[in-house]
Amino acid sequence: MFETQKLIFVGGKGGVGKTTVACSLGVHLSDRFKTLVISTDPAHSVSDSLQQPIGEQVKKVNHTANLFALEINAEKIYHEFLVANRQKLKRIMDTATNLDDEDIDMMLETTIPGLDEVIGLKTVTDYASQRDYDKIIVDTAPTGHALRLLSMPHLLDDWIKVMAKLRWKYREVVTTFKGIYEPDMGDDFLVEMKKTVKRIESLLKDATACEFLPVSILTDMALAETERLTKTLQDYGVSTRYLIVNQVLTDIHDGAFFHKRKQEQAIFKARVKQAFPTFRVIEIPLYAEEVKGIEALRKVAEALM
Ligand SMILES: Nc1ncnc2c1ncn2[C@@H]1O[C@H](COP(=O)(O)OP(=O)(O)O)[C@@H](O)[C@H]1O
Ligand SMILES: [Mg+2]
Repeated sequence: MFETQKLIFVGGKGGVGKTTVACSLGVHLSDRFKTLVISTDPAHSVSDSLQQPIGEQVKKVNHTANLFALEINAEKIYHEFLVANRQKLKRIMDTATNLDDEDIDMMLETTIPGLDEVIGLKTVTDYASQRDYDKIIVDTAPTGHALRLLSMPHLLDDWIKVMAKLRWKYREVVTTFKGIYEPDMGDDFLVEMKKTVKRIESLLKDATACEFLPVSILTDMALAETERLTKTLQDYGVSTRYLIVNQVLTDIHDGAFFHKRKQEQAIFKARVKQAFPTFRVIEIPLYAEEVKGIEALRKVAEALM
């Protein structure tokens, strides 16, 4: 599992066990690889899962040989990006449009389509491009958000195209009057963003480097969402090979109540087989206790492997 892949996104519906799977995979892989778990879910729970404080700076995880973790504040990172690039963005809007200063300020307050998500994703892929870590596991926000995240490079790319086109007109005007056009920081910015989008997109679509690991449970709602998620991922060209089915009932779950639930799960297991014929399905049993701390996560990892 994940021999060559360096970047692994874990995703699925809220509450199905994304954080649990991301952290147990992290604990497991860190025995052999230097591993970083990054949470991009604004509702961070990596700290709770690992049972130790993690924050906006990379922290070594106690009781592991080589595991590190980080909970990113995407909103803050985006804000810092805007502050750092405000002049360049202003320059683009100033020369590409007839807007006055006040209009431009207003536009910069509203979001450029996909820019915030791309900047969040850039933080993740920047870690993946560094040599510091062998494996990076991303604990993503619930499905809708994760999909938005992955589909955004394309939206931002469209925005860059439009801006570049407007700039081209501006460039013609300048050339006509001055005879020469010197690229400015606005051009630099667009080129830089274009490169970033390209880099992110090619990384996401490289099956040897990146993979999405969907997590689901045996309910109608969770499976329906997982079917949509995997379909969309395949359309984008993001590799998915495994499906984690969490909270599965086994022989240890006995009694009338579990008997009924097991009958229900059997129906959904059949649906998994039918709806995900190409996936390798990995089942994790429902444990009697909440999965918390390194020891419990190791137990889940055993089931995973
Ligand atoms: N197989 C399992 N057995 C028992 N409890 C589980 C199992 N998987 C997850 N949990 C618990 O369920 C809760 C939700 O899991 P979590 O990984 O936080 O989900 P998500 O990140 O998808 O919202 C957590 O309290 C977690 O410890
Ligand atoms: Mg979570």
